[in-house]
Amino acid sequence: MTVEIIGTGRAIPLRRVTNEELAGKIDTSDGWIRSHTGIGSRHIADDDTAASDLGAAAALEALKLAVERGAAAEKTAAELALTVDLIVVGSTTQDFFGHPATACIVQHKLGAVNAAAMDITQACSGFIYGIETAAALLKTDPRRRRALVIGTEVLSRIVNWEDRRNCVLFGDGAGAVLLEKTGEDSAEAPVSSGPGPAHTGRRGLLRTVLGADGSGWEYLMIRRGGSRNPWKKGEIVDTVPAIEMNGHAVYNFAVKVITETIEKMLKEERISAADLDLIVPHQANARIVQAAAKRLKIPEEKFYLNIEEYANTSSASIPIALDELNRSGGLRRGSLVMTVGFGAGLTYGGNLIRW
Ligand code: UT7
Repeated sequence: MTVEIIGTGRAIPLRRVTNEELAGKIDTSDGWIRSHTGIGSRHIADDDTAASDLGAAAALEALKLAVERGAAAEKTAAELALTVDLIVVGSTTQDFFGHPATACIVQHKLGAVNAAAMDITQACSGFIYGIETAAALLKTDPRRRRALVIGTEVLSRIVNWEDRRNCVLFGDGAGAVLLEKTGEDSAEAPVSSGPGPAHTGRRGLLRTVLGADGSGWEYLMIRRGGSRNPWKKGEIVDTVPAIEMNGHAVYNFAVKVITETIEKMLKEERISAADLDLIVPHQANARIVQAAAKRLKIPEEKFYLNIEEYANTSSASIPIALDELNRSGGLRRGSLVMTVGFGAGLTYGGNLIRW
């Protein structure tokens, strides 16, 4: 049984904020931001746009592309939406605090009335966790065939725009993939008994690594608003609930887990980095990727980076990159691509996919 990506989409807010524009408002500079992160600009959603709006728009693009490319028999995106059995939304900026799940709102917007809907709050690892969750749920029930996995963020709502250490890093956007289960159960050999499915030329999701280190929960968080530190009646609030980050701790964690996750997937699959067409990392900081590439002795060109344009869009960064590659021909049928990422929790993981 395989789970393949048959459509990709993205939704990027039109408003583009350059480093220079930020430098006109806070004490920062294009030179500092570029040299420390590789970021040149970010896109910011307008006040009326929430995560479900961007997420549904990206998902619609994925459905449309699947129809355009003849990947599904359905003739329109609306018809295809009716065949979706599951919607998984990764987001750290859900429309509403706690509930309802943003995935339910996306389901409603798409008219995907036959789909179950759930959110995943693994922050920047949300898409990687989401792909594995969706694939597993497709595999466990013969009635489920298609799933949308979406990463969508309006991070501009949860950054303190006066804190130069954080606000320059993040942007808004959404990416989505449409998964389809094909083939029969049974004939899969246990992956540990020999070279992995990449060797067979099999397509789709071949392998996933997921992990967490909860001892680092405080390194990247939104401190206020949950059951630990609720807002209190009568409290004078002079700041938005904002991302707090220990940049050095997250940086070190990121380089370590990216390196280890790539090594682990290559080893388990019994392939080398040369067998990969591309690695699509979470776009948090170009320097993190460069440091991991150096440790792994993998050429930097093997890593796809678009952080210069979008900054860090958390759970959306990998599916946005996949959609860019899919539409530009950077990923073709048969390409072997690895995703790898990390995020609040702290969490990490990666997927190995034959396109
Ligand atoms: O998906 C979310 C995961 N988050 C991340 O991946 C972030 C991981 N961490 C990082 O990427 C890096 O730690 C940062 C980019 C956040 C910071 O880079 P750094 O090289 O570790 O800088 P730093 O925090 O050590 O700060 C160096 C200097 C400080 O000035 P002093 O104290 O040396 O005078 C900061 O105040 O840079 C200053 N600084 C800035 N200057 C201009 C910090 N932010 C800025 C800024 N503009 N935006």
